[in-house]
Amino acid sequence: MPRLLALSGSLRARSANGAVLRSALDLFDGAATTADIGALPHFNPDLDGEGATPPPPVAALRTAAAAADALLLVSPEYAHGVPGVLKNALDWLVSSGECVGKPVAVITASPFPTGGDHANAQLRETLRMMSAEVIADACREIPAIGPKIDPATERVTDEPTLADLRTALAHLATAATRPGTATPAAP
Ligand SMILES: Cc1cc2nc3c(=O)[nH]c(=O)nc-3n(C[C@H](O)[C@H](O)[C@H](O)COP(=O)(O)O)c2cc1C
Repeated sequence: MPRLLALSGSLRARSANGAVLRSALDLFDGAATTADIGALPHFNPDLDGEGATPPPPVAALRTAAAAADALLLVSPEYAHGVPGVLKNALDWLVSSGECVGKPVAVITASPFPTGGDHANAQLRETLRMMSAEVIADACREIPAIGPKIDPATERVTDEPTLADLRTALAHLATAATRPGTATPAAP
C-alpha cells in the first residue's frame, strides 16, 4: 500500500486548497499523512551545514518525506508565484535528498480561471531541479474553485472535479507502487 505525504501551500483555516487536499486524501488508495509546514523556520543554510542538527520541525518533515513513497503538493498562487511557506518547505528538502526520484503531484486551485498556473509551473520546475519525478498525469490546475467546495464538509463536491482528482490520484498511486519506487519500510 503506497504511503503519501501531502503538503498544503495555504495556512488559512478555511483554505480552498486545504479542502482540495482533504478530498484528494479521501481518494488516494493508500496511507496518507500531512505535515505542518507552517511550523518550519525560514530556510537558512547556516542551520543546515555539515554536522549541524536540523531544527526539530525540519527533522520531522524530512522523516515524513523519507517515509513516503510519493508526495502531493496542493497550493494556491500568490502574486503569480508559489506561497513562501511551501517554497520554504521545499528549500529545506533540497540538500537532504528525500525527494530524489520520488513521484510528486502538484495541484493548484484558484478562484480565478487560470487555476494557479504560474505557481503550478514554478513548483514543477523546483521539483525537477530537486530531481523529484513530477508525474504530469497526476498534476492539475483547478479553476474557479469556490463553488466546487462544500463549506460545511470542507471537501470538493463538484462531481467532474472529484472524478478528475480520482484519476490524478490513481496516476500518483501507480507511480508510487512501481517496482523500485516504494521506500523500504523502516526496520
Ligand atoms: C495577496 C494575495 C495574492 C493573490 N494572488 C493570486 C494570484 O496571483 N493568482 C491566483 O490565482 N490567485 C491569487 N490570489 C487569490 C487566492 O488564490 C485565493 O485567496 C485563494 O482562496 C487562496 O487559497 P486558499 O483558499 O487555499 O487559502 C491571491 C490572494 C492573495 C491574498
